[in-house]
Amino acid sequence: MVGAGGFIGSHLVPALLERFACQVDAVDVDLTKLECWDPRVRRIEARVEAPGLVEDVTERCQVVISLTALCNPAQYSTIPLEVIDASFTHLLPLVKRCAERAVRLIHFSTAEVYGRTALDGQGLPTARMHEDDSCFLLGPVGRERWTYSCAKQLLERVIWAHGQHGALPFTIIRPFNTIGARMDFLPGIDGEGTPRVLACFMSALLRGEPLPLVGGGAQRRAFMDVSDMVEAVCRVLERPKQSRGQIFNIGNPDNNVSIAELARLLADAFAERLPERAPAQFRAVSAAEFYGPGYDDTQERIPDVQKAQRLLGWKPQRRLATSLPPIVHDYVERYGARVAAASSLSQLASSA
Ligand code: UGA
Repeated sequence: MVGAGGFIGSHLVPALLERFACQVDAVDVDLTKLECWDPRVRRIEARVEAPGLVEDVTERCQVVISLTALCNPAQYSTIPLEVIDASFTHLLPLVKRCAERAVRLIHFSTAEVYGRTALDGQGLPTARMHEDDSCFLLGPVGRERWTYSCAKQLLERVIWAHGQHGALPFTIIRPFNTIGARMDFLPGIDGEGTPRVLACFMSALLRGEPLPLVGGGAQRRAFMDVSDMVEAVCRVLERPKQSRGQIFNIGNPDNNVSIAELARLLADAFAERLPERAPAQFRAVSAAEFYGPGYDDTQERIPDVQKAQRLLGWKPQRRLATSLPPIVHDYVERYGARVAAASSLSQLASSA
């Protein structure tokens, strides 16, 4: 598993060990989040483009799961070349070698490939995004938001070509706003920059700051609990025939909420966990102010998951009302003390 130290990887590794009689080569530049010390895991701290890495994993492993990417929208318009390298260039040798050796590849792409809105096969507006029918709608090149989408789409096309015209046994997964414990980072605590919305909101709640609603927060996302993602990947592993050469949307259409609603739900779960805290506040912020130039957005992103249901027997299970309280609990436990220490340090510095 390349990218095993990321958010999804850190949930997937222990789940695979529990479910399958397997060994895992867990590769990542940083394995801190992988809180799993099972002897069946070989922890390899390396970049995917490190010399010899691709040779090694494709020789040793029956299945390669590729999860590496720079997947925060704030990065698409600030470090686009790194985003293209991480999502495309650095993964090309891995895909090529898997194809040459006919090693099964389960590749994580993104819901971002669909772009601004859901379109049907004729390019007309529709409600849900469909793996095998939807057209893609990206903004102009100057809107660097779409750098990532475009790079991920091109790698999907490379993988597809190796499968259609070569011997690559592949499955592509397009995750839709997966959330859970250990997602991204908290700025100033264990990372710098702007993480995705869940971590942004948790950071604001823990610091007692208003939750920033970009453009007012009317845009919508269908959020899925990471446990549903883990189950989907297990089903893919268990069904090599049904999943070969397939692209799957993995998301939860029943958890489609506006960003303002997500903020409210998180604030409520936070208030339940820490009732002594002052009530959360919200503030509208423009996209240009929050992300800088080059940002663009998707107003709604709902997956059609019927194909996963049909071929994998998979259906997302967890609703937001049950997902959010344990996520909030984990953030409070993991970060509460560190955020409090950082805030009192900065108060000391400003009063000095
Ligand atoms: C991102 C990635 O680009 C996708 O590749 C990935 O599939 C997806 O996350 C995911 O998590 O699956 P996006 O949904 O736009 O896409 O990412 P977020 O950063 O989580 O933003 C969601 C929405 O919340 C956006 O409209 C954003 O403007 C808004 N937002 C974000 C706020 O209103 N406040 C914040 O503090 C942060």
